[in-house]
This record gives sequence, C-alpha cells and structure tokens, in this order.
Amino acid sequence: MRLKNCYNTEDFRKLAKRRLPSPIFHYIDGGADDEVTLRRNSDAFDACDLVPNVLAGVDSVDLSTEVLGQRLDFPLFMSPTAMQRLFHHDGERALAKAAETLGTMFSVSTIGTRSIEELGAFAAPKLFQIYVHNDPALTTDLIARCKAAKFDALALTVDAIVAGNRERDYISGMTTPPRLTPKSLLSFALHPEWSLNYVFREKFELPNVSKFIEAGSNVQYSVVDYLDTQMKRSINWDDAAQMIEEWGGPFAIKGVMSVDDARRCVDAGASAIMVSNHGGRQLDGSRSPFDQLDAIADAVGGQIEIILDGGVRRGSHVLKALAKGATACSGGRMYLYALAGAGSAGVERAMTLLKAEIERDMLLMGCRSISELKPSMLASRS
Ligand SMILES: Cc1cc2nc3c(=O)[nH]c(=O)nc-3n(C[C@H](O)[C@H](O)[C@H](O)COP(=O)(O)O)c2cc1C
Repeated sequence: MRLKNCYNTEDFRKLAKRRLPSPIFHYIDGGADDEVTLRRNSDAFDACDLVPNVLAGVDSVDLSTEVLGQRLDFPLFMSPTAMQRLFHHDGERALAKAAETLGTMFSVSTIGTRSIEELGAFAAPKLFQIYVHNDPALTTDLIARCKAAKFDALALTVDAIVAGNRERDYISGMTTPPRLTPKSLLSFALHPEWSLNYVFREKFELPNVSKFIEAGSNVQYSVVDYLDTQMKRSINWDDAAQMIEEWGGPFAIKGVMSVDDARRCVDAGASAIMVSNHGGRQLDGSRSPFDQLDAIADAVGGQIEIILDGGVRRGSHVLKALAKGATACSGGRMYLYALAGAGSAGVERAMTLLKAEIERDMLLMGCRSISELKPSMLASRS
C-alpha cells in the first residue's frame, strides 16, 4: 500500500498499520471496552439513505460554510487529537499545512506535541481544545497563550473527566513516550523508519502543559495517566460559563450528547456544540452522534451551531449529517491514519478526497449549496 494507491479512509488505515509500530497504531485505531460505540459511530450512517432530486439544473456547488466565526471552503474540519508527534515527526504542523492548502480548520489538543505559539503562526483557521484542569493556573495559562497566538476558537472537552478503558493500549503496552518492553520491542524493530525518525528527529514533548506538570517532560506517561490525574472531575456548568467569559470569543463544548445538555450549552452562551463521544474512546455503549442528531437539531437548531463529530469516513456521511441539521462535521481518524502514513501529503490527500466526495455527492443530490440539504432528502431504513 502506497499513498498514491489510497482512495478512502480504509486505505489510509491499512497504510498506517504498515508504517506504525503496533502500540502506536492501536492507540489511534482503538476504542473503549468492547468498541461497540466505536463501530456504531460509522455504522449509524448506513441506517438511512440519501434520496436525490434529479434534473435539478445544478452544474456547480458552493460547499462553503461558517463555523465558529470562520469561513470554511467545505463543511468538514479536523478534530483535536493528542500526541501527533508519535504518528509522524511533523505532528500537528502537517495538519496546519493541509488546512491552509485546503481552506478548512485544524484543531490542536491540550496534549498536543507542537506549541500553541508555533501553530499560531499558520494562517489557517485554528481551534484549541482545552480541559478544565485541577490546577486552574494551567487552564488560565492556556487561554492566555491561545489569545496571544491568535487562535480563532476554543473547544472545551467535557467527556473525558476520566480516561476510557482502552484495553488495546494495556495489551500493547502503550505509553507516551513509548517504552521499550519485550512486547513492543519487536514491533519497533520491525518499523525502523518510524523508530529512527522517533529517535533522531525533534524530541517528543508536550509543550503546552510542560511548564506545569511532569507529564510534559520526558517521563513516561500515558494519556490515561494524564486524564486520570490532571482533569478536574467535578467540572460543572459554572466552570463552562466561566471559561466562555474568560475566552470571550467563539467557543464550542465538545462531547455533548443529550438534548438537555445541548439546551444548557445555549444557556451558557456557547457558540457551538460538538455532538461527540470522543470517537468511541470514552463511554462504550453510548449512542452515536449521528443517531442523536435529530433530537438535538429539533431542540437547539438555529440557536447554536451543531458540529457532528465522530464516525465520518465518507463524503456521503457529511451530507447525511448536514441534511439532519448539522452546521458542519469534524473527525479524527479520517486524517490521523493519513498523517501516520505520509505526513502532510497524506493529510492533504485524505482531506482532498473527502472534499471531492462531498462535492460529487452534492451534484448527484441536486444541491447547489449545503443549505439545500434537508431532512426530507433522507429516508430511514427501519
Ligand atoms: C488518537 C486520538 C486522540 C484523540 N485525542 C483527543 C484529545 O486530545 N482531545 C479531544 O478532545 N479529543 C481527542 N480525540 C477525539 C477526537 O477529537 C474526535 O472526537 C474523534 O476522533 C472523532 O471520532 P473519529 O475518529 O471517528 O472521527 C482523539 C481521538 C483519537 C482517535
């Protein structure tokens, strides 16, 4: 499998599997418990069909949309994901470059591996993903740095006050930075290109949190440890409202699944909700974002932007979500496999293919702009 032979997310997944030592691949690929929610997030899109209108006289399509105060050339952007330096030595820089080329937004995780300041220099729209930490000084410092670096929006992740039970990581011995155990050693040895890049290129770091916590230094530490020790578990709506005020700009709450919580996001003054279950990595058995979209759009559509996050693997998935009332979609693995497989060129190819699918499917649906996608263009299979 080579980059030029990759045409869809599954192809990029195969490429990533070949390029990465297995603990790293399974860290991206896996979910919590039995991975029921992970699978359902994508399967849910198959429970309904698109119903096109033909002879619509459409010869070109406007895919642009506005999300979190940013004009995007197409309604799909890159969700925040941790530890990208482990997947490719360019890390988050690769996303920033691809977002710039393609006219979409990229996101940066609190546990990202490139600094807020370095990524702030890229012209593409950028969103910083934040947590409420036990140490309020860390949260305040992150907000101040994002303001200084001119990040466009903030997303508060609320579905990870404790780490999900990701059993693949226990089995593979995944830690960050990677630890050489008898189990993982063979896999690192079998992937010399990755291992040499890891050892000889820029050092693995968590530059956004390293000033405050040992986890940002080079001690061995897993994401599970980070979430379990650094998150303020008692976070509540007052914390969210306070952060919205402190930031004072476009603000999303990420990890909202219930209708009641969607209404509370409106009351708290958020600009957007990201309907998300963290890509099936947290609460297994939770509903898929796509299945929950009707109820949320009915309750808060028009009052707040709705971003469908999770399970997106095809352009047609984006069309279905928009028809149900989403403002835009976002995703992680859709670009992560490509990042692991081929860095910035991989991310650019993956996102270009998805953009082309969205455009082609819009033409086939007889829609000129995304506002023309309506619930009536979907038929349920049940
Ligand atoms: C490897 C990996 C790391 C992630 N790290 C974070 C993170 O640091 N913060 C966060 O809010 N979400 C994180 N997520 C969740 C994504 O932002 C997003 O919600 C999820 O990937 C959507 O599901 P999808 O991968 O099916 O598109 C991570 C997801 C993956 C796969």
